[in-house]
Amino acid sequence: MLRRTIFAALALTAGAVAMHGMVTNDAYAQAAPGTVFSTGQAQRGVGAYSVSCAGCHGTKLEGMAAAALIGEEFRARFANAQDVYDYARANMPADNPGGLSDATYLAAIAFIFQSNGKQPADGPDLPPTGLAKVLWK
Ligand code: HEC
Repeated sequence: MLRRTIFAALALTAGAVAMHGMVTNDAYAQAAPGTVFSTGQAQRGVGAYSVSCAGCHGTKLEGMAAAALIGEEFRARFANAQDVYDYARANMPADNPGGLSDATYLAAIAFIFQSNGKQPADGPDLPPTGLAKVLWK
């Protein structure tokens, strides 16, 4: 009986978490076109980030040799995805500035935004221009 109660409580908690996640995704899926990166970009960004950025910024974006790319302090320095893209393309990776393809920068930035709480949508990939509409929230 006690076991059953515990199980029911756990199932309820899991349900609440799943529903919360769905609500968040729906909100982003309904966002105006061009205001959010695609699911595919975010997924490719995991690999792009780990190959090209994690060595200095940490596998969890927590900062190592270089600054953290997660958290309020970081977000406060860049108003939108265009700012991050322009900065990264001109200066990153620090040992090979501008050395990656546009698609790789975009994917890495999609992953950075996702890691800061922004959810992707099942729309087209973001192009390397017009990223100013992509905000942290
Ligand atoms: C060889 C090391 C290295 C690699 C690899 C690297 N970075 Fe950096 N990054 C730095 C350094 C150094 C800074 C300057 C700030 C600091 O000293 O922490 C920096 C700063 C940044 C900043 C500005 C952070 C802030 O808060 O001002 C961003 C954004 C950034 N990098 C993105 C990237 C991205 C995206 C990649 C992968 C495409 C990448 N970096 C790869 C070393 C690196």
